Amino acid sequence: MIINTLKSKLICLFLLTATLTFGQSNTSALLPLPNHIEQMTGKKNFAITPKTIVKTNLPEQAFCLAELQRILSERLDWDIPIKKLQSNAKSVIELCTDPTMKGEEHYTIEVSENKLSIKGNTQKALFYGLKTLDQILLGDVCNTANRQIAPIRIDDEPRYGYRALMLDPARHFLPLEDVKFYIDQMARYKYNTLQLHLTDDQGWRIEIKAHPGLTKTGAFRNRKTGPNGPDNGFYTQEQLKELVRYAADRHIEIIPELDIPGHTVAVLATYPELGCTHTDTLPKEMGKTVNLMLCANNEKVYSVYDDIIREIAEIFPSSSIHLGGDEAAIEKNWTRCDRCQLLMKQLGYTKESQLMNYFFGKILTSVGKYGKKAMLWCELDNIYMPANEYLFDYPKDVTLVTWRNGLTPKCIELTGKYGNPLIMAPGEYAYLDYPQLKGDLPEFNNWGMPVTTLETCYRFDPGYELPDTQQSHILGICGTLWGEAMKDINRVTYMTYPRGLALAEAGWTHMEHRCWDSFKERMYPNLMNLMKQGVSVRVPFEIVRNVQ
Ligand code: ACM
Ligand code: ZN
Repeated sequence: MIINTLKSKLICLFLLTATLTFGQSNTSALLPLPNHIEQMTGKKNFAITPKTIVKTNLPEQAFCLAELQRILSERLDWDIPIKKLQSNAKSVIELCTDPTMKGEEHYTIEVSENKLSIKGNTQKALFYGLKTLDQILLGDVCNTANRQIAPIRIDDEPRYGYRALMLDPARHFLPLEDVKFYIDQMARYKYNTLQLHLTDDQGWRIEIKAHPGLTKTGAFRNRKTGPNGPDNGFYTQEQLKELVRYAADRHIEIIPELDIPGHTVAVLATYPELGCTHTDTLPKEMGKTVNLMLCANNEKVYSVYDDIIREIAEIFPSSSIHLGGDEAAIEKNWTRCDRCQLLMKQLGYTKESQLMNYFFGKILTSVGKYGKKAMLWCELDNIYMPANEYLFDYPKDVTLVTWRNGLTPKCIELTGKYGNPLIMAPGEYAYLDYPQLKGDLPEFNNWGMPVTTLETCYRFDPGYELPDTQQSHILGICGTLWGEAMKDINRVTYMTYPRGLALAEAGWTHMEHRCWDSFKERMYPNLMNLMKQGVSVRVPFEIVRNVQ
C-alpha cells in the first residue's frame, strides 16, 4: 500500500493525527508497525457477544489457541471456550492456517462487523497476528472497554527474517525464570531469536556432562554467595532443553554462544593446560583475569571443544552455534607461546593472526560434524594489519555479526564481497549495555561506553541506506546486552526497554513506513503495558523535555 516516501509521510501524519486527536485508535499501540494497514472507515465495529464463537483448524493443544484465550481474557475480560468446528454463528473469531499464503511470518488480520479473522501459513504467522491483535486492543481503549474492535485490515510480514536480542548470563547469571520472563517480552515485539552468551572470562554457565569441572569451577566466581546469581550459577542440560521448548512455543529460537579463543578464563580456571605455554603459571581468576586465550597448538583444546560442541548441538536445535571469535589478544598469547610459534613455522605463516584460520578450521570441523553452522563476531581491525587494511579470511558459510563502532560499512562491504551472511549489531545503534542518556546507568562503565539514546537507536536503518544489491546478504538485526553491569533481570529489562521497541521496529518495518514521531506515540501504551506486566523499563523523559 504505502510504497513511496510521500505516502510514508502521509501514513505517519495519519497515525500521528489519529493518536493525538482521539488519544487512541486501533493503530495507536501497533509496534513494530505493520507494513500494510487499511483502515475500514465507515464500517461497523466487531462486537464480542455471549454468542461469539472461535473457529479454528488448529489442533486443540496449539499454543496459539491458549494465547488467543489469554489475550481475550486479559484485554476483554472474556473467557471463551474454543470450538473447533464450522458454524453459522453471527459473530466469529477465526484463527486459521491458510496454506495458500506465502511466507512463514506473513499474517493477515481482517476485522469486519461479523468476523475477526487471523490467517497465516504457519502457527508462527498466526502467533504474530495475535500479537498485533493484542496491540489493537491495547491501543483502542474506548472500544476495548466496550468489547468492540474497530474494523481494520492488516497484511504484514517482516523486512528481515532474523530479529534477535542477546543476553549475557556469563557475566552475571540470570536464573531460568528470569530468562523466560525476558522471552515473554521479546515475543510481544515479534523478536524471533535469543542469543545466549553462555561462556566468558567471568563464568561458564552450561552443564557439560563430559567435563563436569567446567561448571564445578567455572560457574562459581564467588564462593561466599549463593548458587543462583548474580556471580554464581549454571543451567543444567534439562533446564536448557526446557528453555528451548518455552522459547519455541513463543516462536523464538535460542542460539547458544561459546566465546573462543579469547574470553576463556572460566575454561582455563578448570583446565589451565589449555592455555599457551607461558601462561601455565599465571593465576586464572574469574572476573579478574582477562586477555588469556586457548592455545592454538594443543590437541586437548580441540578434543575438549569437540565434546562441548557435541553436547551443545544436542541441546539446541538451532542451525547455528555462535563461537565468539572477538577480542582475541593474540599478541599476549600466541605471539609469546612456544607451541604456537612452532605451529606457525610448520605452517609457513608469517603473522600470528593467521593461526585464527587454523584454530577455527579445526573448531568448525566439529561444528559441521554435529550438523551445525557457525556464527562469529566480525573482527576486521586485526592488530597486525596496517591502518585501513583489513584481514578477511572467514569461511563463506560462517555468518558474521558486525558490532565494532565505525566498522560496519566496511563489514557490510567485505561480507558482501566474500559471500558471508551478515547480522547487524553495530555498537552505535544496537548495544543495549551503553547508557541511554549522559549520566544514566550503568554506573559501572569502566570502558567509557558511549551513549545510545532511544532516538539514535530508532534511527538505525539495518540496510545502512545502501542500494538493495549491496545489502541483500543482511539477514537481520541483533540488540546486544553485555552483562558486566547487569546484576539482575530488572537492570536487564531497564536497559532493553524502550530501546528494544525501537530495534524491533528496525527489524520488522520497512524504512518507508518508519517515523520517529509516530514511534514515540505508539511507544507510550506499550511502555505502560510493560510496566503493568512487572517489567522494569526506563522512562525516556528526555524525548518530551528535550534534555540532551
Ligand atoms: C563484543 O562486543 N565483544 C562482541
Ligand atoms: Zn599457544
